[in-house]
Amino acid sequence: MLWREAYAVGVPLIDSQHKELFNRVEVFMQTLRSSVSWEEKVYRVNETLDFMKGYVVEHFQDEETFQKRIEYPGYQRHKAIHDSMVSYVLEVSEQYEKSGYNEQLMQQFAGKLMAWLINHVAVEDKRIAAYVTEKGVTLDD
Ligand SMILES: [Fe+2]
Ligand SMILES: [Fe+2]
Repeated sequence: MLWREAYAVGVPLIDSQHKELFNRVEVFMQTLRSSVSWEEKVYRVNETLDFMKGYVVEHFQDEETFQKRIEYPGYQRHKAIHDSMVSYVLEVSEQYEKSGYNEQLMQQFAGKLMAWLINHVAVEDKRIAAYVTEKGVTLDD
């Protein structure tokens, strides 16, 4: 499992979305690394990619809404990071479609996505947790 308890932000909705994202990325990597031919796995790869495109945007929006609600001071900066990741994902998937589903492109993308996700959650999203603790924000209202 890619997910670690140390990545928990302490906000149930955000943590459950992070777990789902980590699981999907893990399955995505496993599919990509499996020894079956590209023709055999391209369908599953595309399906996961489509799911990720929607889910990542949904998660970012929910996380940003939460940040606004708690008046998180790093909101603008955090949103800019999210926005540039969304642009990157859309750019790659457009390129990927144009290339006729190039395997190399997806292999590179999956590696970057995984590294980005782990780093973002462990560094940027954890800062939200630190703020919640520091300010004593109540989560249940
Ligand atoms: Fe997040
Ligand atoms: Fe985030």
